[in-house]
Amino acid sequence: MKLEDVDMSAWTKLAAATTDRQSGFRIVTLCSVDAASRPQARAVVLRRVDRIGRALEFHTDTRSAKWQELSANPFSTVLGFCVQDQLQLRLHGLVELHQSDSALANSAWNQLSPWTRATYRGGPPGDDLNDTVRDEKSLAAVDENAGKSVFGVLIFRADGLDWFQLQRGENRRAAIAYDEAGLVSDCRWVNP
Ligand SMILES: Cc1cc2nc3c(=O)[nH]c(=O)nc-3n(C[C@H](O)[C@H](O)[C@H](O)COP(=O)(O)O)c2cc1C
Repeated sequence: MKLEDVDMSAWTKLAAATTDRQSGFRIVTLCSVDAASRPQARAVVLRRVDRIGRALEFHTDTRSAKWQELSANPFSTVLGFCVQDQLQLRLHGLVELHQSDSALANSAWNQLSPWTRATYRGGPPGDDLNDTVRDEKSLAAVDENAGKSVFGVLIFRADGLDWFQLQRGENRRAAIAYDEAGLVSDCRWVNP
């Protein structure tokens, strides 16, 4: 691949992953730093990609540890690996949090399937399991909007991309930086 094609190809693959369940970039790892300065990582579904703004959208529970961590420290890394392409994308950036009832959270909630909405109906993530809540969750007649008040949207804005492709005998790695408008400000091959 030519250096000038690396960036566009990476963002095209990320965008495609939002509708392709088989894509290796459909589930990525979102990293944060906790209050004790320890790195934290978890799998999340890549919901939407803004190729111009270099932004990735994720959905989560606003009671979760990641929400608290990213509220306190918005610096984040998103890591993806696609087996088919033998491609690792390591994006660095900042996360914006959009609370429940914000315009973005309302719009995203309205597009969720009933099944996905139901995942927000339980008790606070990480708390001890409460079987009463679990039993209530399984009742068919439960209000579909029950989880809306804890549903939040995370917008990750990339300021850099570390692109790494495994190729037998010739691994390739490119370092790309973005300016505040999302334009490529630097792009170069680096030693893998
Ligand atoms: C394949 C997969 C996809 C997941 N997608 C999400 C997601 O989109 N949003 C989310 O909040 N948690 C998702 N999770 C659960 C998280 O990985 C994590 O366990 C949970 O959000 C609690 O993380 P936290 O304690 O760091 O906040 C997913 C887990 C798996 C295994």
